[in-house]
Amino acid sequence: MLCRYKKANEKIAMGLLSFMPEHKDVKKLQETICQYNSDPNWQLYLWKQDDDYIGLVGVEIKDNKWIVRHISVDPSHRGEGVGVEMIRKLYEMDVCGSIAADELTEPFIQKCLTMLEEADEEV
Ligand SMILES: CC(C)(COP(=O)(O)OP(=O)(O)OC[C@H]1O[C@@H](n2cnc3c(N)ncnc32)[C@H](O)[C@@H]1OP(=O)(O)O)[C@@H](O)C(=O)NCCC(=O)NCCS
Repeated sequence: MLCRYKKANEKIAMGLLSFMPEHKDVKKLQETICQYNSDPNWQLYLWKQDDDYIGLVGVEIKDNKWIVRHISVDPSHRGEGVGVEMIRKLYEMDVCGSIAADELTEPFIQKCLTMLEEADEEV
């Protein structure tokens, strides 16, 4: 289930964010979480499964685009479809804009969007 991030889950979110490239140091992690805590155009979501938060996706909403800035899944749950499922939920929620990626998230988001578009065509 995709849940909107709350400040009470800050430590969990920082743990998941630390799997992103360039987020190994605490200063960078704090900068990123601060952005999500303070800027309403930056929205963070957590993926909850069996009472645990095992995935994270963060977007910047800009010019009607949902730019995926951060996406990560707990290493013990990778390859189970969680990453694709988080993007599928955003894809379904995103009624007024469209999903985009930045340099960091491009390879995975492109793969997800191709899969989702192909699934749409089959309907
Ligand atoms: C990228 C990440 C979120 C994928 O999550 P996941 O739940 O393991 O992915 P899923 O199980 O939903 O999807 C797996 C598919 O995506 C592919 N994939 C995984 N990581 C990928 C990446 N970085 N770029 C492109 N494709 C990727 C897999 O090969 C697999 O494809 P297949 O089904 O054709 O074999 C996860 O590997 C992660 O947390 N990585 C560390 C954080 C990171 O680097 N984020 C930015 C990535 S661009």
